[in-house]
Amino acid sequence: TLQYPFYGQAHPAGVATPPQRHCLFMTFDLTTTDASALQSLLARWSAAFDVLMAGHELGTADPDRPHAVPTDTGEATDLGPNGLTLTLGLGPGVFDDRFGLAARKPAKFDHLPALPSDQLQDALTGGDLSIQACADDPQVAFHAVRDLSRLARGVAVTRWTVMGFGRASAGQGQTTPRNLLGFKDGTRNIRSDADLGQFVWHDGQDQAWMKGGTYQVARKIHMHVENWDTDRIEDQERVFGRDKRSGAPLTGTGEFDTPDFAKTDASGARVIDPQAHVALAAHENNGGLKILRRSYNFTDGMDETGQIDAGLLFLAYMKDPAQFVTLQTRLGSSDALNEYISHVGSGVFAVPPTPERGHFIGEALF
Ligand code: HEM
Repeated sequence: TLQYPFYGQAHPAGVATPPQRHCLFMTFDLTTTDASALQSLLARWSAAFDVLMAGHELGTADPDRPHAVPTDTGEATDLGPNGLTLTLGLGPGVFDDRFGLAARKPAKFDHLPALPSDQLQDALTGGDLSIQACADDPQVAFHAVRDLSRLARGVAVTRWTVMGFGRASAGQGQTTPRNLLGFKDGTRNIRSDADLGQFVWHDGQDQAWMKGGTYQVARKIHMHVENWDTDRIEDQERVFGRDKRSGAPLTGTGEFDTPDFAKTDASGARVIDPQAHVALAAHENNGGLKILRRSYNFTDGMDETGQIDAGLLFLAYMKDPAQFVTLQTRLGSSDALNEYISHVGSGVFAVPPTPERGHFIGEALF
């Protein structure tokens, strides 16, 4: 199965990597105030990322000595790497007074501000660390996060988790999948290296340790699927500004046609509603601003009222978290999609660049 290298890459894995089919996203709170305990966790995790991404057991699932506890939990044994990527994020809390790292905090990095339409639940928000585990086999992603959590015992505890299935974005060379509202998602996502350079990779200015890294914004977005499913197709297409089947903008015929946001119909009304999701999010209407989206569908089964509990694990990467804040400030106040979604979880994380072999993620911080 597909295997990605961990050490010595220009950029962290799991960002520009074409999205794998499944994703397990977990955030953690640090329970230690000891900088060397954090340092040692990052070193253990880095070494483990390399072993897991190669498709190996972390230690052994079947020790020779009968009294020994297995160091690997064993459920991914024989499955192979399955394109596993592990992406580590450091939350703003890593740079507060606890660890003496305040001088390393990038000036642009802080908790996200309150945004319009936020309905965030405390239990689904924040986190000092994040791990995004993506793979083409969900059990491989689960195993990686499970065994990494074991390595964090005594230092960090899980804060919130989303089990994502089915990619809802497209990367380089990929076809566009559909999200749970039935629309193609990822059509106008960033795909070129030039855009990645301009909008995603940190240039190391202000904090040299971030050079080649990026910022990760994670939002757990609940979809009111039952309401959506009673809406007529004409309105669903108005909400996105795109055709449901082909994914074409309402002003075009092909999926990749450039939307014409100024075009009007015979009555003088805009063909793409100015409050359509794509009209508000498009770079043409935001001073050229873009982000890299890398989202997944999720479901938590049924909620307490018997409705399907599902939505989008929105994951996005950018060189400055303000890119997300700018877009979501607009979308949160005017997006026609808001009737059908609620942002219930949120986190922002600095993703350091990949270390060389023999080093660990975030080593330059200490
Ligand atoms: C475009 C779905 C949330 C930013 C799109 C498209 C769909 C979609 C179907 C059109 C196809 C494409 O170009 O990818 C959704 C759903 C969401 C959601 C279902 C929530 C459940 C967000 C959020 C942001 C965002 C929170 C950023 C704050 C964008 C951007 C585009 C886009 C930048 C490209 C617009 C363009 O250039 O035409 N989204 N989206 N989306 N979305 Fe979302």
